[in-house]
Amino acid sequence: MCGIVGYTGAAPAEPILIEGLSRMEYRGYDSAGVAVQQGEAIEVVCRKGKVSELAHTLEHFDLDGTCGIGHTRWATHGKPSEANAHPHTSCAGDIAVVHNGIIENFAELREALIGRGHVFKSETDTEVVAHLVEEAYHRLREAGTGDLRAAVAEAASQLVGAYGLAVMAEGEPGTLIVCRKDSPIVVGRGEMGSYVASDIIAMIDATRDVVVLADDQMASLTAEGIAYFDMDGNPLEPEVTHVDWDIDVAEKGGYPDFMLKEIHEQPRVIRDTLAGRLSGGALTIDELDMTPAELNLIDRVYVIACGTSYHAGLIAKNLIEGWARIPCEVEVASEFRYRNPIITPTTLVVAVSQSGETADTLAAIRDARVRGAKVFGITNVVGSPVARESDGVIYTKANKEIAVASTKSFLGQVVSLTLLAMLLGQSTGRLTGGQIKLLFSELADTAEAVERILAECGPAVEEAARAMVDATSALFIGRGMGAATSYEGALKLKEISYLHAEAYAAGEMKHGPIALIDENFPVVAIATDSPVYDKVVSNLQESRARGACIIAVATEGDEDIAKHADHVIYIPKVRDAFSPITASVPLQLLSREVAVLRGCDVDQPRNLAKSVTVE
Ligand code: F6R
Repeated sequence: MCGIVGYTGAAPAEPILIEGLSRMEYRGYDSAGVAVQQGEAIEVVCRKGKVSELAHTLEHFDLDGTCGIGHTRWATHGKPSEANAHPHTSCAGDIAVVHNGIIENFAELREALIGRGHVFKSETDTEVVAHLVEEAYHRLREAGTGDLRAAVAEAASQLVGAYGLAVMAEGEPGTLIVCRKDSPIVVGRGEMGSYVASDIIAMIDATRDVVVLADDQMASLTAEGIAYFDMDGNPLEPEVTHVDWDIDVAEKGGYPDFMLKEIHEQPRVIRDTLAGRLSGGALTIDELDMTPAELNLIDRVYVIACGTSYHAGLIAKNLIEGWARIPCEVEVASEFRYRNPIITPTTLVVAVSQSGETADTLAAIRDARVRGAKVFGITNVVGSPVARESDGVIYTKANKEIAVASTKSFLGQVVSLTLLAMLLGQSTGRLTGGQIKLLFSELADTAEAVERILAECGPAVEEAARAMVDATSALFIGRGMGAATSYEGALKLKEISYLHAEAYAAGEMKHGPIALIDENFPVVAIATDSPVYDKVVSNLQESRARGACIIAVATEGDEDIAKHADHVIYIPKVRDAFSPITASVPLQLLSREVAVLRGCDVDQPRNLAKSVTVE
């Protein structure tokens, strides 16, 4: 997610902005920029890539102004580039804006602004804000009826979507106006002046007494102080929060570990991954750089990946074959690279990797390309080797994942692969426009379902975790989409709690694993509403008859399941195709809870690394 910083005070702004942006680097970004008030002018410097590259570029500028704003951007509208990096400016360059969030009605605003003579320099949604503020600011100033604060309020009133904004104008040197809706903005006073950021971590060295703006609140920052307003300009007395976290906790956003923080980021990941993908009723993934006709030629898909990313592939297989009717194989990259897979020029290889640098996945990509396949990468890291070496890339908008166990990246991968399956269905003509729209809207609704799971299923997860904490082994079972989900559930549990776990397609129970079952062997079943629900329940009964403690993840309203399970974790109903998105979340929470109860280091499990760059 993007990051905002701003400062106005007695000290030069540039080093403060760079320090704040560096502190937010962990969130992930693809470009960075600052705008500093130099005398009466606003100087803007942006760079694609790292904050350190921006800092290096700034060494060639002599910026000593004491008021400025800065931003790290993760592309949503428009590719990562210098032109699309924030701050964005008005036609005359006298207004500079940084923005977090997504402005949903930007296309119509942009068209109207162009119609009124505005000239755009970027492809971003944000730039409309600079032009809207420009119009309002000059009109209000000429009429003597308003200032920059009023102009920002007027501009914000036209926006649909989410925004955290920081704005400055040449006409009001030393002033920063900030406001928010559904995107965080924090302000605070330090010894050297006034600070704003989208994340407390960016200003924690300057002050620990902060005001977290609520939606539809604004603040006007000057070197002398901060004034708070509602969007109509009425003064407010906001509540000051004292932050007593150390830096480590601040980075965790108040959560006890990164894994829990990252699990809670998943509704945002779903929304960001879907943003901008449906336009005019059609799905577009421009980054893949293939026409519908080229996509239509694909007659075989391989998904290659390792670990959790491989499990995302297992989920995708069902969707690609179901919606596009194209045969799809999912293979661990370390196997794929050493065999002789059947690849033709009409084969599509989809390489999935959170880090974008997993050695086996990279080797498999190279091998597939040599054999003539088209390769799509799905990765979380902009500019990573997987992104660079693939023909096209979809970025999962998870932001940097710090906990070794992948959670939000996994969900980003599943959502991205779901979009790819829909795109293939669309280009083969197997999914109609109406079906695409319906699927997309139900997919978008999973964000809210995950939000509810995070808010409501804590007690049930804790109860289930206590029931399995002393076990030495656990079995995860499911069928169909539930089978794919159960593989990921078992991996998550074993890697962070060191409790041995295995996953089986539930229909396989009688072919061997049932011999293991006794009262010390908990069974976690994915028993959500699906065409194979009754079959899963039969498998539960078989396990229960042998004394197993049953933990079921089931759909809200399914009271019957309580007769077959010792513990039930209820989740909202979603389409079966999307059930891995929701059902994975309680399994992530369950693994973490078991790991905590067993005293394990949740974020850094033994023997594991975040990125596996060796074979
Ligand atoms: C488990 C986990 C690993 C990775 C695997 C592949 O939580 O994170 O299993 O999924 O090492 O890594 P990437 O996705 O970076 O290629």
